[in-house]
Amino acid sequence: MKCYHYLNLPFEFKPYKFPPIKVHVELEIKEHMIDQNFKNWLSSLGLAYDIPRMLIAVPNQQYTIHRDSSPEYGCVKINFIYNSQQAKMIWYKIKSGQSIKTYTNTLGETVEGGYTLNDLDILDQGILDSVSLVNAHDLHSVHNGNTFRQCYSFALKHINTDKRITWEEAEKIFLPYFTGSLSR
Ligand SMILES: [Fe+2]
Repeated sequence: MKCYHYLNLPFEFKPYKFPPIKVHVELEIKEHMIDQNFKNWLSSLGLAYDIPRMLIAVPNQQYTIHRDSSPEYGCVKINFIYNSQQAKMIWYKIKSGQSIKTYTNTLGETVEGGYTLNDLDILDQGILDSVSLVNAHDLHSVHNGNTFRQCYSFALKHINTDKRITWEEAEKIFLPYFTGSLSR
């Protein structure tokens, strides 16, 4: 199963310049920091962004295996990635017969996680160093390269229903923008 696609967009995305950040952090991207051309293009597709985030990964950081949101809620993202060299994303699915694992976090909440590679099969993997459409609701991890990687990350929803788009919808909507797509 394909879990990402490189995108070739009809405009140049202008990333908001945050001050230099040399730690792993997740920041909110405020409305005024977001390129108007990006907003216009999304709305021309009937879409809007949801929870815009800037994610900094430190050199050689490895994210734990996680979902950005539950599979039912859905989480398809466009990620604009900068200063990244050979950052690898790997997607997983729980082996058949295995059940969902959970643990209690420091806030006392029950959250999914704690998987080992024995619990999982690999769904897909790829190098994510540029602008990409990403399935963020299936289990995944990121193995960063040797840089402070900046990822401007936008979940996507329908304007008219306010619902997140599914991966199947995303693959149809963005097909004309896939790098190397025959339809362009
Ligand atoms: Fe993620």
